[in-house]
Amino acid sequence: MADNTKLKIAFFDAKDYDISSFDAANEAGDVKIKYFETKLDEDTVKLAKGYDVVCVFVNDTVNEKVINALVKKGVKLIALRCAGFNNVDVKAAQGKIGVVRVPAYSPYAVAEHAMALLLTSIRRIHKSYIRTKDFNFSLNGLMGFDLHGKTVGVVGTGKIGRVFIDICRGFGMNVIAYDKFPAKDVDYEYVDLKEIWKRSDIISFHCPLTEETYHMVDEKSIKKMKKGVVLVNTSRGALIDADALLDGIRNRHVGAACLDVYEEEADVFFEDRSGHIFEDDTLARLISMPNVIVTSHQAFLTQEALTNIASTTLGNISEYFNTGKCANEVTV
Ligand code: NAI
Repeated sequence: MADNTKLKIAFFDAKDYDISSFDAANEAGDVKIKYFETKLDEDTVKLAKGYDVVCVFVNDTVNEKVINALVKKGVKLIALRCAGFNNVDVKAAQGKIGVVRVPAYSPYAVAEHAMALLLTSIRRIHKSYIRTKDFNFSLNGLMGFDLHGKTVGVVGTGKIGRVFIDICRGFGMNVIAYDKFPAKDVDYEYVDLKEIWKRSDIISFHCPLTEETYHMVDEKSIKKMKKGVVLVNTSRGALIDADALLDGIRNRHVGAACLDVYEEEADVFFEDRSGHIFEDDTLARLISMPNVIVTSHQAFLTQEALTNIASTTLGNISEYFNTGKCANEVTV
């Protein structure tokens, strides 16, 4: 194929690790990729002019306005390099521009990160790491609790939720689960959300963000949870009302929170904000709590996941342009 017939991809919110993995997957130079550091939004959509595809991630804005602008500029496909697509107005895209995603790249990456956060939190590793770096070998205030025998409520039992369940089983935990579409023939107990709130010592979220799941953890549901409950969110930030969580932490009802996602993360996560005056008071206060651990949407970040994301995204793009459809297309 002559160079000028190659598909042109405008790659938004590009980070060093994206560039390495996509350049490796595109070693043969099948497509032309232009990496933009900026996120896609109503102001930056002009950069997409002359490209066939925009490749976007979780915090790019792909609302109706952006979609119409992309169509006007001749872009044919929005290729999400992630699983969740809550940031895309799929309805607005329907019939105008294709939308493809990477439905699975490594459920292990995310489920293992959820357990890493949980263990770090309840065994106070984040505290002891800092202490021993300063040659402080005191154990005061570092007491944790066993996971063995505790009840974990898993909300969303898709690919990631099920790996997380397997991991919890390895720790000898009792698993209860809630899913809007429960799987058949499973060897764990499905219960309704009320039971999850009531019975769980730990609750881990693995469902998508939808109108229904938005703020499923709020003041009301927190009140129904066990005192001392540990919340783990590696799914999407807006599942949890961050202000209600902060109140729950302050009034000691929530024992700990492990957050890889945050509802207002789009303007904060993935960037170095050290040295800046931090504007988000809720996040600043949450981070200041000794029983809150925040990672910045890092759960997906393993070598295996990045390799799979790059190869599936390029595979989706080539399938879409070669056949006019794609198995990983997102539709309403
Ligand atoms: P999946 O599609 O395999 O599983 C999602 C599960 O949630 C399904 O079983 C579905 O039936 C269930 N569900 C749908 N609506 C629900 C509701 N209203 N209440 C309860 N359950 C509901 O998705 P997968 O791959 O397991 O990913 C789960 C979520 O993890 C994604 O939606 C995404 O938001 C998040 N994620 C986070 C990453 C990170 O780096 N932190 C990376 C990848 C995914």
